Amino acid sequence: RQLAKIFDVSLRATVPEETDVEPLVAACAGNFGDYQCNNAMGLWSKIKGKGSQFRGPPSVGQAIMKNLPPSEIIESSSVAGPGFVNVVISKNWIAKSIQKMLTDGIETWSPRLPIKRAVVDFSSPNIAKEMHVGHLRSTIIGDTLARMLEFSNVDVLRRNHVGDWGTQFGMLIEFLFERFPNWEEVTETAIGDLQTFYKASKQRFDSDPAFKERAQQAVVLLQGGEAKYRKAWAQICEISRNEFNRVYERLGVELEEKGESFYNPYIPNVIKELTDKGLVEESQGARVIFIDGINIPLIVVKSDGGFNYASTDLAAIWYRLNEEKAEWIIYVTDVGQQQHFDMVFRACKRAGWLPLEDNKYPKTTHVGFGLVLGEDGKRFRTRNTEVVRLVDLLDEAKNRSKAALIEREKAAEWTEAELEQIAEAVGYGAVKYADLKNNRLTNYTFNFDQMLNDKGNTAVYLLYAHARICSIIRKSGKDIEELKKTGTIVLEHEDERVLGLHLLQFAEVAEEACTNLLPNVLCEYLYNLSEIFTKKFYSNCQVVGSAQETSRLLLCEATGTVMRQCFHLLGIVPVYKI
Ligand code: ARG
Repeated sequence: RQLAKIFDVSLRATVPEETDVEPLVAACAGNFGDYQCNNAMGLWSKIKGKGSQFRGPPSVGQAIMKNLPPSEIIESSSVAGPGFVNVVISKNWIAKSIQKMLTDGIETWSPRLPIKRAVVDFSSPNIAKEMHVGHLRSTIIGDTLARMLEFSNVDVLRRNHVGDWGTQFGMLIEFLFERFPNWEEVTETAIGDLQTFYKASKQRFDSDPAFKERAQQAVVLLQGGEAKYRKAWAQICEISRNEFNRVYERLGVELEEKGESFYNPYIPNVIKELTDKGLVEESQGARVIFIDGINIPLIVVKSDGGFNYASTDLAAIWYRLNEEKAEWIIYVTDVGQQQHFDMVFRACKRAGWLPLEDNKYPKTTHVGFGLVLGEDGKRFRTRNTEVVRLVDLLDEAKNRSKAALIEREKAAEWTEAELEQIAEAVGYGAVKYADLKNNRLTNYTFNFDQMLNDKGNTAVYLLYAHARICSIIRKSGKDIEELKKTGTIVLEHEDERVLGLHLLQFAEVAEEACTNLLPNVLCEYLYNLSEIFTKKFYSNCQVVGSAQETSRLLLCEATGTVMRQCFHLLGIVPVYKI
């Protein structure tokens, strides 16, 4: 950020006549420097032939370098190839910046976004249907995106858009009445499993016309607000909600439910507005919105006059923009729903609710993700059952990590409560990290052995690395809070400098991950950080007992602080000993 400002000053001085040039500055891994400014070639093609004083990209590069204002950030600079301006960052400045972060807090390195409030619509399972691994992915990814925005000082409304409305409720309610004459007292334990209940009621619906008719009648009564039907509906929702909450609780995910039913009262006015604006047309008895270039229309009122998924989403956007004043609305679902969201968003643009340009706020973004596959390469399923119960899955992750922990000698020193807590942090952390480290658009293979391996790119490996850093600090016997006040960081050894520079880059990476909604960028950064710490710094720079002990302990603490912030953003609970 600060380097870009410095280059901006230089660009203004180099080509005062070109006013719309943005500095292109990026970290580079070469031997020439830490950062590179790549403006020379582009600039040359703009100015050549206009009687310019320059003779080609290298001479533009030279001028950019010469015009760099004096700055404590830059140690040295050079021009390479066709005008790339390389800069080496000053060691003292790196050290000072890290020291400042340690005193003022990691928040001083948080991303800056030009918005105040966002909605993240995630998890969003359907009542009485299965909450499947796709919803688990949405829950994990959505929680991380919400955390990243919160870290950027954005007020985030975490929305669980549960599927709690629709025709299936007629069938479920009728089935509840039939199965349980005392339905008002019925609880989760009596029904057992709502998914099985759903299947049984569907079977009844498909095989008995009389039942089917009653179910259809029930929908009308429910939607008309009939008390008895409302009550039965609320009861079914409550049972589902309890099951969802158990998953959220384990994952440490907070969500506020505003299900599809919530937006129902807003739909008629929204459809009216869209109709008045000329967007809605009649097609085969339904009312639809046609979108350029897409051969199927967006159905907003079904031919039977009922509303659907799309009508609800239009009303939800209206509500989020106008009532909740959200400037960025983010939807986390599988890629299969991409077209749905594309059509909904484009309808909103046509209605003038959203600006046409994608880089302007308020904006909406669909964050799609790929499938979860089993080791056989097919859609993830457990051995016996057709569906994977998420709670069982999380239990297994925890039990496996517990078993692995018990094998470690140190575990003998832990209390039972500590063991439980560490097993949970490692087990659930492993499930989350395995999901987040991939580019979210790709399918990913769910494999316990892989995600719990303590040597690969896994949460386990990262949590161990963090615990080791904490143990170095503990072993020194020094009061780290005191050292933060009195000690100074000095970067002498090359590996200290490499570590320091990487720590500093956290701010850039967090900003990139947040603006582009890519948690995997953060995972990659975190993995590299622990590699640099372990394989470079810690292998080559003795900490405890060395002449540079204070400075190196502060570097350990800074690494721990950045790692903990990454863990926090990824929804992983750090462990301090292992
Ligand atoms: N309930 C939907 C599903 O399970 C996801 C809802 C996503 N959010 C939305 N506003 N449409 O596929």
